[in-house]
Amino acid sequence: MSDGASPEAWWRDAVIYQVYIQSFADGNADCIGDIAGLRSRIGYLAELGVDAVWITPWFDSPLRDEGYDVSDHRAVHPRYGSVEEAKDLITECHAAGIRVVLDIVPNHTSSDHPWFVAALRSAPGSPERSRYHFRPGRDGGDSPPNDWLSVFGGPAWTQVDDSDGNPGEWYLHLFDASQPDLHWDSPEVRREFEGILQFWFGLGVDGFRVDAAPALVKVPGLPDMGYSKDAFRADLTRADHPHRDRDEVHEIYRDWRRIADSYDVPRMFVAEAGLDDVARLARYVRPDELHTTLNLRYLESAWTADSMRTAIDTSIAVTAPVGAPTTWVLSNHDVERVVTRYGRADSRRYPGVSGPDLGPVDEELGRRRARSAALLTLALPGSVYIYQGDELGLADADVPARARRDPIWIRSGGLRLGRDGARVPLPWTPAGASYGFGRDGAWLPQPDGWGDQAVSVQEGDMSSFLELYRTALRLRRLLPGLRVASKLRWRDAPRDDVLVFTRAPGFGCVVNFGPTPVPVPLAGLVLLSSAVTGARDEVPPYGAIWLDLDGQTTV
Ligand code: NOJ
Ligand code: CA
Repeated sequence: MSDGASPEAWWRDAVIYQVYIQSFADGNADCIGDIAGLRSRIGYLAELGVDAVWITPWFDSPLRDEGYDVSDHRAVHPRYGSVEEAKDLITECHAAGIRVVLDIVPNHTSSDHPWFVAALRSAPGSPERSRYHFRPGRDGGDSPPNDWLSVFGGPAWTQVDDSDGNPGEWYLHLFDASQPDLHWDSPEVRREFEGILQFWFGLGVDGFRVDAAPALVKVPGLPDMGYSKDAFRADLTRADHPHRDRDEVHEIYRDWRRIADSYDVPRMFVAEAGLDDVARLARYVRPDELHTTLNLRYLESAWTADSMRTAIDTSIAVTAPVGAPTTWVLSNHDVERVVTRYGRADSRRYPGVSGPDLGPVDEELGRRRARSAALLTLALPGSVYIYQGDELGLADADVPARARRDPIWIRSGGLRLGRDGARVPLPWTPAGASYGFGRDGAWLPQPDGWGDQAVSVQEGDMSSFLELYRTALRLRRLLPGLRVASKLRWRDAPRDDVLVFTRAPGFGCVVNFGPTPVPVPLAGLVLLSSAVTGARDEVPPYGAIWLDLDGQTTV
């Protein structure tokens, strides 16, 4: 909360920490992170200084897409705990001043969901099938109903058997075959999701991230996309797309907003909506719809002065006209970690892939850039998302082929590495079983040396990533220039590979994207530098600094 804004608008400038629960902390020694582990680390989050956590799906699920395949949205998967423990967690987080945001997955259910199981047992045309997209195949039934492709690669349709064992209808899945798409024309589907929101809001949850927010509505008739024969993965970029960003999707979110606003303390939504068309994106955060949208444009940008400045300007320009704040996201569980991506010569983000095919990674360079990126990001107006482990400077782990489990890896027959490298359990201690993640192993193997960047190693070491994040977060709360209402103003930069901006009152930020130092171009006191050593009157190569321009801040 800041600038006298009501506490209800906490999401406008909140720092939200993404907890990938299975990899955060394991409380019961089964090698999988859980609620007990998370509860034991609330102190860590409070000390880090975050305002909220976003917890990735912890619902009942067969876990074919790590929980984004939900079989019961009102139950916690037993491996994570129970609804009772979830309630305790929410209470404890609130007591520590941390809000709790969950992840809702409305585009699809798991194929183990009772609705889908019932649909498979029911005849074509039955009410049970009408909750999903079932269609007869083409070519006498043998070919999929249209040419749509999955976001994970391969066809977006799978054929089921009829009750007599003969091949029957096909169902649509924009993701894995274990994630059948729901049919949002169905009033039952709408009511069910409203009930799920009310269930968790009733337990005190402060908000929801909306998974695949633009995907829910499909154009009637499901026309072909016109893919070429060798296309492998869904093209999500097309305008007037048949299964993405249909106008009707907004009615759903208006209904959801009414529910969120019906509480004494209104609840919030953040959309996962990676739309290239920024004007279309802004429609999701109109005043009567979702509150914010995860900024994937920023996340995808290459680490160059030009590209980052364009991403920042575009992001602010998109949401300002509708009165919504911007969010800033450097990474998440779906992409390579910042250190790895920024360690490449070409630091743009490529969807769903990682690995040597994108060029070698210089992790040292990646770390220096990632430290600067942390300072740049935390200095921007709006809300910031931190993916767990980024505050430790973790790079993607090299997960052995036998341990990989991402459907992107499986569906591509190992041609695409997928996202497992960014999902490896956190190191809390330098040694020991799973480096303190739990008392035993870790569900995804942690590489040798993983403990070198453990929390306990970094704590108290002022040259560490963790302490850089802690200091930056503390200053972010403290400095009036970093409050949400304070606008960013670009200043002349001494070189093309440098960005300089100020925010009144008295805050300055300089980011040097280049390989040579640059003299500090603003008069003021250096509050924080991404580099551990170096002269105070210059911004080091690949470095960033924060400045107090008024000399008013006592740190
Ligand atoms: C986006 C989620 O972040 C990702 O992990 C998941 O695979 C897809 N949506 C499908 O739910
Ligand atoms: Ca566990």
